[in-house]
Amino acid sequence: MALWGGRFSQAADTRFKQFNDSLRFDYRLAEQDIVGSIAWSKALRSVGVLSEQEQQRLELALNEIKLAVMEDPEQILRSDAEDIHSWVEQQLIAKVGDLGKKLHTGRSRNDQVATDLKLWCRQQGQQLLLALDKLQNQMVQVAAENQTTVLPGYTHLQRAQPVTFAHWCLAYVEMFERDYSRLSDALNRLDTCPLGSGALAGTAYPIDREALAHSLGFRRATRNSLDSVSDRDHVMELMSVASVSMLHLSRMAEDLIFYNSGESGFVELADTVTSGSSLMPQKKNPDALELIRGKTGRVYGAMSAMMMTVKALPLAYNKDMQEDKEGLFDALDTWFDCIEMAALCFDGIKINKERTLEAAMQGYSNATELADYLVAKGIPFREAHHIVGVAVVAAIEKGCALEEMSLEEMKQFSSVIDEDVYPILTIESCLEKRCALGGVAPNQVEYAISQAEKRLEKRYSRV
Ligand code: ARG
Repeated sequence: MALWGGRFSQAADTRFKQFNDSLRFDYRLAEQDIVGSIAWSKALRSVGVLSEQEQQRLELALNEIKLAVMEDPEQILRSDAEDIHSWVEQQLIAKVGDLGKKLHTGRSRNDQVATDLKLWCRQQGQQLLLALDKLQNQMVQVAAENQTTVLPGYTHLQRAQPVTFAHWCLAYVEMFERDYSRLSDALNRLDTCPLGSGALAGTAYPIDREALAHSLGFRRATRNSLDSVSDRDHVMELMSVASVSMLHLSRMAEDLIFYNSGESGFVELADTVTSGSSLMPQKKNPDALELIRGKTGRVYGAMSAMMMTVKALPLAYNKDMQEDKEGLFDALDTWFDCIEMAALCFDGIKINKERTLEAAMQGYSNATELADYLVAKGIPFREAHHIVGVAVVAAIEKGCALEEMSLEEMKQFSSVIDEDVYPILTIESCLEKRCALGGVAPNQVEYAISQAEKRLEKRYSRV
């Protein structure tokens, strides 16, 4: 049964019906639709459209439907209702008869779907905040365990200066912190309730929309009915937050794929997140990480598809907007799965500390130290930079590290070089020197870990 039979004398073409129906994906809004409907029944009661007894009967029946849905959400898919709103109404009428037909008084599917989707975003957003928080906690933990694990730091994928695995972890903790904050902002902005905006011009019943908004846990009611039913900013905003976060996850995945490669051999991922090859028995592939990297593309795709869909749409509601859900669901599901999978990749990861140290000691990553040493002895930095460049070429030709050259050899590059250069060229010294806030010096990393722990703890006490 369609919701709009009176004006029509012909049934919908089955191909059109299939094209138009959204139940196969918006069934995920069932709980939100029911919760919204209960709130609406109370609003109708407050303006005398429903009696106390009628409202109670509707609420009871809606709660029964909700329970049944929670037990078996897939049952909805067996219906041929157009969308989730029609499905809930059908179920209600089946339970309470004609009384069920009163619920849609003063309401439109336009304000209804806008409300359902915001409720869904809010719920999904909370899950995502928790998932990000969990990943951050885990990475802070890995950082704490790897404060002395030396790792070559790169720029241009060329060994640049030594860092620690802890410092690397904390870089991603920062990125996820910004994602968390962006997501919180987006959730805060979408915390307004469109219900009671009607089809586009507002509802004709003198409903207290602020009270209605509060009853659904929103901060306030939306202010303009035209905007209320046509606004999908929150959908685009959440997808853009997801996109930036996926970008962070993809960079982390790429770093780890490289660290896990035979060429670097810095880490070994657990069997639990890798897979083998059907042909080459020796292979253990980092599929989880590759999929995180790969799935980033589909989240961007969903975001740009949504922007294209809404671009230049006239006010107010247009059916184009039904296209919002599949992309949003997919983008947020994908983001959630990738956060979880990233966390899983740190479970049982083995870090080959000898190998990372060895790699950090190769590649002349202490060259800056030698330049700084010369500066301390009164040579201007530009000149020092040149001298060290020459020294590196000589060392490459000799096939040794800078610190492996004798003092005599060193003195050829600059007469100011003395015995005291050798302690300067050690990894420990390279790390300790970077002691300004945010640097890789052990005391700074320790401070950063304790600060991150405090921030994450504070977050919990706020939730
Ligand atoms: N299934 C529709 C959607 O997702 C619900 C709103 C329908 N409104 C309408 N006027 N046909 O957007």
